[in-house]
Amino acid sequence: MTRRPVLLLLIGLAVGAAAPGAIPGVHDENQAHVDYMLKCQGCHRPDGSGDDQSNPPMRGIVARFLTVPGGREFLGRVPGVATTNLDNERLANLLNWTLYRFDPQHVPADFKPYTPEELGRLRQNPLRLDRVETRARLVAGFASGPSD
Ligand code: HEC
Repeated sequence: MTRRPVLLLLIGLAVGAAAPGAIPGVHDENQAHVDYMLKCQGCHRPDGSGDDQSNPPMRGIVARFLTVPGGREFLGRVPGVATTNLDNERLANLLNWTLYRFDPQHVPADFKPYTPEELGRLRQNPLRLDRVETRARLVAGFASGPSD
C-alpha cells in the first residue's frame, strides 16, 4: 500500500522523461498546451484557425514568417506574444510549440528554436501600431504558389 505512491511517481517520471526533445525547443508540451489554452486560444481558437475578422489563423501559416527576413523577430514582438504574462522560459516553450503544433510543414529545416534569452530581448520592444504594416509587408514576402 505505502509503496504505491512511489511506484506512481516513478511511472510519472518515466512518462515525463520521454517527452523532452520530442519537439525542438519544447521542454514541456503539457505546459505549452495549457498556456495556449489560457493565453492564446481566446483569439486564435483552440485549433489555431483564428477567425475571419481580426485574429489571424496560425494553422498552416504561422511558420511561414520564419521564411522571410524580419519574420523571426516579428513573431517575438507581436503584442499577443511579447506582452503575455508568462516568463521568458514558458514563452519560448509556448512559441516553439505553437510553430510545430499548427504549422510543422513550414518550419524551415535549419530553424533554431527560440530561446528564453532571445524572446527576453525581443519582447522588450513590442510592436505597436506599426504591427499591421509590418505584418502585411512580411506576408507579401511569402513565396507565392501553393501554401505547402
Ligand atoms: C487579444 C487577442 C490575441 C491574443 C490573446 C493573442 N493573440 Fe496572437 N495575434 C493576435 C492578432 C490580432 C495578431 C495579428 C498581429 C496584430 O495585429 O497584433 C496576432 C498575431 C500573432 C502571431 C504572428 C502571426 C500572424 O499571423 O500575425 C503569433 C505567432 C501569435 N499571434 C501568437 C500568439 C500567442 C502564442 C498567444 C498567446 C500567448 C497570442 N498570440 C495571443 C491576437 C491575439
